[in-house]
Amino acid sequence: MPEPTYQPMTPAEVRVLRDELDAKGKKLVFTNGCFDLLHAGHVRYLNQARALGDAMVVALNSDASVRELKGPSRPVNRERDRAEVMAALRAVDAVVIFGDKRATALIEEIRPHIYAKGGDYTVDSLNPEELAALKSARSQISILPLVAGRSTTNTIERMMKPADGSGPLRLGVLGSGVGSNLKAILQAIEEHALDAEVVVAISDEKDSTFLKTAKAAHVPAHFVDGGHNPRRFNDAAHKEIAEHLQRAQVEVVVLAGFMRILKEPVLTAYADRIVNVHPSLLPMFKGARAVQDAIDEGELETGCTVHLVTSEIDAGRILAQATVPILVGDTAEVLHQRIKVEEHKLLPKVLSEWPRK
Ligand code: GAR
Repeated sequence: MPEPTYQPMTPAEVRVLRDELDAKGKKLVFTNGCFDLLHAGHVRYLNQARALGDAMVVALNSDASVRELKGPSRPVNRERDRAEVMAALRAVDAVVIFGDKRATALIEEIRPHIYAKGGDYTVDSLNPEELAALKSARSQISILPLVAGRSTTNTIERMMKPADGSGPLRLGVLGSGVGSNLKAILQAIEEHALDAEVVVAISDEKDSTFLKTAKAAHVPAHFVDGGHNPRRFNDAAHKEIAEHLQRAQVEVVVLAGFMRILKEPVLTAYADRIVNVHPSLLPMFKGARAVQDAIDEGELETGCTVHLVTSEIDAGRILAQATVPILVGDTAEVLHQRIKVEEHKLLPKVLSEWPRK
């Protein structure tokens, strides 16, 4: 194998680059980190950081300093390899390797125009010495949001899981509305309360917030045109849905505010593996007006149900329920919001307890 030809820069060389930019009224962005297993979260972060200025230098912690910061099992990749990979990114103009735990000395030497840091920091939580160095270099500090769900630790955890089907549960989520249940699922995954991955999201509403939520979370999202009847799907749409689910290797299908009736071939392909969340205590108040119906009947309480989906509407085996009191003066809208609060806990919980083969 040919030896890598990439040579990281020295801080002095980066300072020259900085001064050249400065002379042209341009700005050098500086960021630092371990970056020992590059993932999409890093790439998105680096692209955002680079967009703050005209060129970017990434300071990579040396292998010894990564070990000191992250423990003896890190870094995953050695510093020369990390530098070579990092330098190949479109956002990166220069790479330096530094051996200290802190970047203070580098900041003092390079005097970057902009210092970018990932969003688990605030300006106040930056190391005081680094902060002082940044102030004296008159660097502008920019804290960028972290990319949800992507971290080296997560990636390592996933890689360590045995390949016996016990990895994260692969969910396909279908919805027609605002997608608050989808959001709750994604949040539970993010918080490690649910070991799952939403591998595909499908909606019959092209401009739905549901689809926007999925896209914002970088979940592959598809609109499927169901035809004119808002409650039913035509055969072609059912086939398309089945194809999306199969292509994404979905294990469990979740209907999260999906307002059309699912039929074959999806029902058979995913028998006992389709769950629906419904805003009533089934078997009471089936159908699309469940919240208003409970009010109209003068009930004192209602709630939500997570159940398996069969060919009979809202009638499959009940997996879990939560109750919600109906208060004097409740409108369907107000009551529905309180029901959703319970749905957002119940649905992720049911999925987190899903029996694996
Ligand atoms: C949820 O309350 C769900 O129970 C209901 O639609 C809402 C979707 O909210 N589902 C049904 O009525 C199905 N018959 P969301 O889009 O905010 O998740």
